[in-house]
Amino acid sequence: MTSASALAHPNIAFIKYWGNRDDSLRLPANGSISMNLDGLYTRTRVTWRQEPGAAEDSLSLNGAPIHGKALQRVSEFLDIVRQAARMNLRAEVVSEANFPSGTGIASSASAFAALALAASRAAGLDLDEASLSRLARRGSGSACRSIPAGFVEWFAADSDLDSVARSIAAPDHWQLADVIAVISTEHKSTGSTEGHAAAASSPLQAARLEGAPRRLEICRCAILERDFPSLAEIVEADSNLMHAIMQTCSTPLFYWQPATLEVMRLIRQARAEGLPACYTIDAGPNVHVICELGAVDEVLRLLGYLPGILDLRVARAGGAAHLVQVE
Ligand code: DP6
Repeated sequence: MTSASALAHPNIAFIKYWGNRDDSLRLPANGSISMNLDGLYTRTRVTWRQEPGAAEDSLSLNGAPIHGKALQRVSEFLDIVRQAARMNLRAEVVSEANFPSGTGIASSASAFAALALAASRAAGLDLDEASLSRLARRGSGSACRSIPAGFVEWFAADSDLDSVARSIAAPDHWQLADVIAVISTEHKSTGSTEGHAAAASSPLQAARLEGAPRRLEICRCAILERDFPSLAEIVEADSNLMHAIMQTCSTPLFYWQPATLEVMRLIRQARAEGLPACYTIDAGPNVHVICELGAVDEVLRLLGYLPGILDLRVARAGGAAHLVQVE
């Protein structure tokens, strides 16, 4: 077996991962909880090249060849697969994503989840869900949460072995949606990896980490009990905390734009008036409005009036990463 294609969805974190206890192994400083995003995906085909002349891995994204740092990150990840499969072939990686990358819609999550599955399977490895999640984590932390289905928790653990993600509830457990207000599609200047490394320099990070188990518990219970008011409160609090860390680390990171703040204000006001919706923001200016499915039309209507929004995407809870083809 030398070639396999896999598809994975990005995920939106309800309780965020920000900072590692081990940067090189991507062991997170705190646990996190997310929802996979149906409808958005990365689809990746990996072919291990048998011909002797292949000296380097190759990567293309949406038809364009990729070199430099992004290729190097993929190659280093493929080294882990080569080591596990005890082989030394180079790979051709062909990837397509149907959403913009580098803007706070976690493209690295679906990218490394799809790559972990396609590369390992094409190398003849048949990994179970926990092992795949562990592998995907090495490429991008949040990618481990795109392996299992639906609502997913990634455990903070001291060891590589134990730091994996598991499903808390299936996608159809709760009819939630993420209305993504795309405010910019430009590649962000400081990526998550550098951000994680700087997190400990914020004087607020220790307090954030101390409260993480409590926030995880509230979020997990809110999901299991389909308790939207509790979910909304903890999701917004956790997003605000992560952005407070970003804004107070040694080289402060400000990801918000004026339109980001406008969406935050509008959604808080609408929730006070009874709309089951809340906001959360990753490492970019885009706002994810998490709402009950029945509230999607109203959220779209409200956001439709705001200037500065380039696009609105709606995603429901998505399934697990899966193979689409093996040859
Ligand atoms: C803000 O998983 O993208 O989206 O491991 O360096 O690839 P790397 O970081 P990444 O960090 C995600 C940060 C976040 C919050 C989250 O998804 O939990």
